[in-house]
Amino acid sequence: MPLLDIVTYPNKILKQISKPVERFDEELHKLLDDMYETMIAKNGVGLAAIQVGVPRRALIIDIGDEEGKQSKNTLIEVINPEFLVWDGIHKDTEGCLSVPDYFDEVERYATVKVKFFDRYGKEHIMDAEGLLSVAFQHETDHLDGHLFIERLDYIKRKKFEKEWKKLLKQQKQKRKK
Ligand code: CO
Repeated sequence: MPLLDIVTYPNKILKQISKPVERFDEELHKLLDDMYETMIAKNGVGLAAIQVGVPRRALIIDIGDEEGKQSKNTLIEVINPEFLVWDGIHKDTEGCLSVPDYFDEVERYATVKVKFFDRYGKEHIMDAEGLLSVAFQHETDHLDGHLFIERLDYIKRKKFEKEWKKLLKQQKQKRKK
């Protein structure tokens, strides 16, 4: 199965607000399957449809089991998510497949209660804390056109812009070789 291309910062596609999924059909299932293959191949724990250029409110999360081992058993497919409750503060280091090789600490809610649909259109309500809670918030941000780097404070954002320029230069040189 060919892997999907991941859209990276600063591509404007990432700023689009994704539209709700209306049909829970084959096309959605194929998108979710391809997204999973792509996410695993890139060592990610979350991926939103807009990151592969599809502006729909669909995302996947797989933070793995207690040992961090990922499989279809630990995969959560999230369609049209909606936060019902959020509470507390949790700071953790985040990264994003659309901002490759950059990691920084972001402040999020500690716990969230999320309502969403699975690939068959069945409704689920889930309580999440820790890494799972962060993943829900990070991925849902993508659906609203936001990246985690927008949540960094001014000084960290400046640090990011500097490091990002350096990373882009290195990637260009790598491609030349
Ligand atoms: Co991301």
